[in-house]
Amino acid sequence: YVIGIDLGTSAVKALLVDREGNVKAEASRSYELLHPRSGWSEQRPEDWIEGTIGAIAELTDSLGEAAGQIEGISFSGQMHGLILLDESGSPVRNAILWNDTRTTEQCREIERTVGGKLLEIARNPALEGFTLPKILWVRQHEPEAFAQARSFVLPKDYVRYRLTGHIHMDYSDAAGTLLLDVGGKYWSSELLGAFQLEESLCPPLVESHALTGTLLVEIAERTGLRPETKVFAGGADNACGAIGAGILAEGVTLASIGTSGVILSSEQDRNKNYDGKVHFFNHGKENAYYAMGVTLSAGYSLSWFRSTFAPGESFGELLADVGTIPPGSGGLLFTPYLVGERTPHADSVIRGSFIGVDGGHKRAHFARAVMEGITFSLHESVDLLRNSGKKVDKVISIGGGAQNPLWLQMQADIFGATVVALENEQGPGMGAAMLAAYGCGWFDSLEACAAQYVRPGAAYEPKTEAADVYARLFPVYQQVYAQTRSLN
Ligand code: XUL
Repeated sequence: YVIGIDLGTSAVKALLVDREGNVKAEASRSYELLHPRSGWSEQRPEDWIEGTIGAIAELTDSLGEAAGQIEGISFSGQMHGLILLDESGSPVRNAILWNDTRTTEQCREIERTVGGKLLEIARNPALEGFTLPKILWVRQHEPEAFAQARSFVLPKDYVRYRLTGHIHMDYSDAAGTLLLDVGGKYWSSELLGAFQLEESLCPPLVESHALTGTLLVEIAERTGLRPETKVFAGGADNACGAIGAGILAEGVTLASIGTSGVILSSEQDRNKNYDGKVHFFNHGKENAYYAMGVTLSAGYSLSWFRSTFAPGESFGELLADVGTIPPGSGGLLFTPYLVGERTPHADSVIRGSFIGVDGGHKRAHFARAVMEGITFSLHESVDLLRNSGKKVDKVISIGGGAQNPLWLQMQADIFGATVVALENEQGPGMGAAMLAAYGCGWFDSLEACAAQYVRPGAAYEPKTEAADVYARLFPVYQQVYAQTRSLN
């Protein structure tokens, strides 16, 4: 067996997977998201450790004697979050997460200091969510904490460090820091120097399937794993989501609707220039890359809608009548900018809207409009990929958005592509398990592993009538951003 650990924003999920790729058990532990101020988003790194140990222990308990057959574990992690470690390896403050927007000023500082070099080297623009602006923020606002920092890590790297005692970072996650030379795969001394940051802050870089050590004895005791269990580096959650969906080469696109939403396409050419319009990161597969557009509030928009207008109801109850509402939601349009947006508008200030409200609209119209607005936002990323020459005709859909057949059909109609759901889809945790399976030497390549572990399910083709309605609405949706910007 292997274990894939997905360190998410709301919970850690651990998957026990056998050699054939069957999920034998899963366990999860949720933890708190702290918002000490508006726009701030933090977590206690210790909560991740307790959660991860608890979830693994539940898996080994369920296996009994057979737990001795767990050969390796690996990780998928929420990206970009900053953990600064002191000399003894303890965090100097809470982690600042990917969805924290306090760093607008630091982003402008980065642009002033390095200008076009950033796109050239880090291949991405300065966005609030990324790690470098967070480092600069701590240095400026909490100089005592920063003075103690000897290295920085990302969320899953911290967990791996606590499990093994060794500090590493893999390329797919390092790509989201803005300090990596993404094409060259090394820490950029030019960028570090421009911000007077010591290179010693940066952990040793490794591939996602690299062996990073075995378990500390105390951790082995608490988790029920053998101390010799191999621990592999793992990758960024989006890279692992792609691996878990078998997106390892160009030709198939990933649509993931979780809290945030993602459109992702694998890229072999490390010099491919997207001009910073979509993120360009190293993949969890060696020497591969991916281009990705991000909708900040995808599933979050629907959760917000449910908790605000249907408290106590399940998603099933909330969406029960949505199928009776025609495509286009009777003229009601939603933009999902509840916490700002990333792609195509890198704007942390913009907020969402409902437009075209009619006296006859019922709650189901609003629920459908929310689903359509989220999907339109993702379609803007599909458009960006298409405009840069990528063919998007087959999409694998994962996450909460793939649980609902109506939403899968909606994605096919809006994207104008065949949309495929996976059987027994497990998200990034499966990608992490695949990295462990490959790392253990069970397969010659990630592709060979994917051929056995990734199981395509139902396919949805675009339906002309609905697709026409959406094609008319999409340009209207695209105009809403510019027209509502000045509201904030
Ligand atoms: C990607 C991003 C999010 C997080 C979610 O750039 O910020 O998708 O990785 O965990």
